[in-house]
Amino acid sequence: MDIKKYTALIDGELSQIGFPDSPNQLYDPLRYFLQIGGKRIRPMLTLLGAELFGGTYEKAMSQALSIEVFHNFTLIHDDIMDEAPLRRNFQTIHEKWNRDVAILSGDVLMIKAYQLLGQIEGKLLPDAFALFNKTAIEVCEGQQMDMDFEQRSDVTIDEYIEMIRLKTSVLLGCALEMGAIVAEASSNDRALIYDFGQHIGIAFQIQDDILDLYANPDKFGKQVGGDVIANKKTMLHLTAVQNATKEQLEVLKQLQNEDNVELKVDRTRRLFDQLDIRSLCEARMQEHYDIAMQSLAKIEVEEAQKAKLIGLANFLMNREV
Ligand code: IPE
Ligand code: IPE
Ligand code: MG
Ligand code: MG
Ligand code: MG
Repeated sequence: MDIKKYTALIDGELSQIGFPDSPNQLYDPLRYFLQIGGKRIRPMLTLLGAELFGGTYEKAMSQALSIEVFHNFTLIHDDIMDEAPLRRNFQTIHEKWNRDVAILSGDVLMIKAYQLLGQIEGKLLPDAFALFNKTAIEVCEGQQMDMDFEQRSDVTIDEYIEMIRLKTSVLLGCALEMGAIVAEASSNDRALIYDFGQHIGIAFQIQDDILDLYANPDKFGKQVGGDVIANKKTMLHLTAVQNATKEQLEVLKQLQNEDNVELKVDRTRRLFDQLDIRSLCEARMQEHYDIAMQSLAKIEVEEAQKAKLIGLANFLMNREV
């Protein structure tokens, strides 16, 4: 099965999740959000994780959906925190409805994730819950760090990597390990596949930072420049700080206080271009991709079994959305 087929399968399953009609202000946003698209990479990782260790994707489906539903909950709340107007080319829930609706419908989605996760063989439940709960708390920690960093000008690259590990990578690791749990893989294999996911996740978030400023606005589906507008300490920003001259640093500092957002985004991009920041960040991405592949290489299954995962990882590194 190729990537597109998994996506279609997951989309089909997600559309089967029934929500009551009433109160419609609670459930309409969820019906809306789950059907406006998304790459569905996390559930795909769960299915591929299960298959890698000899399980069937069918057996891992509820857990895969659980992780996608949890991810969608985090996006709804993330868009409130980031004041994002667009997601997957559509208005965000807090824009289309309002902030309170986005908070509460997001909450329902988090509980829904637990309901789906619970549909697992009883003996596997403790491990599945332990992994899921640890991950969910870490995502919140990462999100808080991301917001704290907006106010700071002394964030280091190490701190940034830890922040994105928490807000993004642990969920990719969790998605893969959840598949491994369903397939009853050994604890050593579970650790290796989690590690693969973490490093793919770090590369994935660096790519997300790059796309935030450099994506084609017609394809991207999110507001281009949102991170610059919010003074996010992204890999682009931190790499620029590392490489800038004194004068360029001063310009960057002034741009942080610029109220004209169009000018702020354009001038910041121009400064980053002068410093060749995009290529430097792509090199960092590649480093984590390589580490991820080293973990995958240590997993003792037929090499052919790994082909789909490698295909998905490569797709992620070259994506435009
Ligand atoms: C966006 O995730 C949030 C990040 C962790 C960068 P995705 O890029 O996977 O979003 P969708 O689900 O495909 O829309
Ligand atoms: C989001 O990071 C991570 C989570 C949702 C936990 P971003 O804020 O960079 O994600 P996008 O760019 O809005 O998708
Ligand atoms: Mg965010
Ligand atoms: Mg965001
Ligand atoms: Mg982003």
